[in-house]
Amino acid sequence: MQFSSLISFHLLVLQCLCYLCLVQSHDFLFFVQMWPGAYCDTKRTCCYPAAGKPTDFTIHGLWPVFNNVTFPEDCNPNSHYNETKISDLISEMQKTWPNFNCGKKSTTTKFWTHEWTKHGTCALPVLDQHGYFAAALSIKDKVNILQILKNAGIQPDGKLYKLDDIKEAIKAGTGYIPVIECNTNASGNIQLYQVYLCVDAAGSDLIECPVTLKRACNTSIEFPII
Ligand SMILES: *[C@@H]1O[C@H](CO)[C@@H](O)[C@H](O)[C@H]1NC(C)=O
Ligand SMILES: *[C@@H]1O[C@H](CO)[C@@H](O)[C@H](O)[C@H]1NC(C)=O
Ligand SMILES: *[C@@H]1O[C@H](CO)[C@@H](O)[C@H](O)[C@H]1NC(C)=O
Ligand SMILES: *[C@@H]1O[C@H](CO)[C@@H](O)[C@H](O)[C@H]1NC(C)=O
Repeated sequence: MQFSSLISFHLLVLQCLCYLCLVQSHDFLFFVQMWPGAYCDTKRTCCYPAAGKPTDFTIHGLWPVFNNVTFPEDCNPNSHYNETKISDLISEMQKTWPNFNCGKKSTTTKFWTHEWTKHGTCALPVLDQHGYFAAALSIKDKVNILQILKNAGIQPDGKLYKLDDIKEAIKAGTGYIPVIECNTNASGNIQLYQVYLCVDAAGSDLIECPVTLKRACNTSIEFPII
């Protein structure tokens, strides 16, 4: 090997190593759905979309996670949210991924831009923008949490349910134990707010959660009406 080609070979190896350490991608994803009734009965204001109140859990996001339970954020400032890339998904997203914020942050575009910029860019290069949003819609379509809970007699009727019964029902319906996050309604009652399920790095299938995620809740919680 000539000296100059040896140098370029070394440079190539260095570039490859650098590339590998820079694109340290996520280990898996959390698919997070929220209960609109619990988002909207807190002290903070909420605005339902013009189409009306939803009657189902809605998507909050699909969040890349490392096995050390850190959530990478804002991973690629050069990758901008671009609705042209996901135009075939928009009508489904309007239905299952609405925004309940009021005022300046009220548009769905604002919400989806935020989710892409903060979380989605951290799923690159495993999932591109279309792949990312399509993966979330596909999981939502496969997992009907509300129906699963109703089948177990757990309804959004403002009554109290045992956290363990909610987890058991979701495990029975999906095969996997969820993480449940609670919040507090305007009168201080702890209630079912978000359901987290773990998804493989490619965004294709539910998996057993590789980590324990701590989220606020109580042993007995309200399932509020919408
Ligand atoms: C968690 O893991 C990621 C990827 O390996 C690493 O970049 C990050 O520094 C780790 N964070 C902590 C707090 O250990
Ligand atoms: C958005 O994506 C489309 C389709 O990939 C592309 O043609 C267009 O240049 C992109 N727009 C911006 C502002 O990047
Ligand atoms: C909070 O939950 C309790 C228990 O279901 C209920 O009685 C109360 O009306 C709720 N408050 C609000 C503001 O939704
Ligand atoms: C938490 O649940 C217990 C019953 O399991 C209940 O006694 C307690 O009031 C609840 N705490 C709050 C803040 O709702």
